[in-house]
Amino acid sequence: MKYLIAYYSKTGNNWFLAEQLAHDVSADVVEIVPRVKSFFLLLLTSLLKVSFGIKKIDKNLDDYDGVILCGPIWMGQLIAPLRDFIRKFRANIKTLYFVTCCASGDAERDGKFGYVNVFKKVEQLAGSSFKEAQAFSVSLLIPEGQQAEAEQMMQLKLTEETFTGKIAEYYTQFVQNIS
Ligand SMILES: Cc1cc2nc3c(=O)[nH]c(=O)nc-3n(C[C@H](O)[C@H](O)[C@H](O)COP(=O)(O)O)c2cc1C
Repeated sequence: MKYLIAYYSKTGNNWFLAEQLAHDVSADVVEIVPRVKSFFLLLLTSLLKVSFGIKKIDKNLDDYDGVILCGPIWMGQLIAPLRDFIRKFRANIKTLYFVTCCASGDAERDGKFGYVNVFKKVEQLAGSSFKEAQAFSVSLLIPEGQQAEAEQMMQLKLTEETFTGKIAEYYTQFVQNIS
C-alpha cells in the first residue's frame, strides 16, 4: 500500500504523529495549509460549517492507495481544514483513514467533545472510501491513577520523550493494522 499522510497541526501534536507515521509506514507526507491563518477564524469556520478553503496540495492523490488524514479536534468538531480536505479530494481518495491526536480520552469518547462524533462526520463526508479512524489521546500520557484538569490536558505535548506507554501501544497496533 502506498500511503499519503495529510496533516494539519496547530501546536505540533498532529505534526509529530504524522511524521512518525510517515516514517513507520514509509508514506509521503503533506501539510494541509488553510487559506486563513487566524486561529479565531479557523475555529469559527469549524463551528459554523463554512470555510475559506485550503491551499493547493503538492501531490496527486490519484497516485496513492490510501490517505491518512491527521489533525486535532476543537470543540468537538471536524475542524475546517480537515473537512475542506475531504470535500476537495473525496473523489480521488481510494481509502481514507483518519487519525487524531486529541485531548478527549476513551471515557469521554461519546460526549460533546469526544472523538466519536468527529469520526462519524469523517465517515459521512468521505462515504465508501472511509476505512477506519483512531484517536491517540494525550490523556494517555497521564500515568494511570493520576488526574489532569482540562487545561493541563491541552498543554500535553507529543514528543520523542512522551510518546511511550499506552499511546505508543495504540499507535503500534494501528501501524500493524494498516501495514
Ligand atoms: C480551542 C481548542 C479546543 C479543543 N477542543 C477539543 C475537543 O473538543 N476535544 C478534544 O478531544 N480535544 C480538544 N482540544 C485539544 C486538541 O485536540 C489537542 O490539544 C491536540 O493534540 C492539538 O493538536 P495539534 O498540536 O496538532 O494542534 C482542543 C484544543 C483547542 C486549542
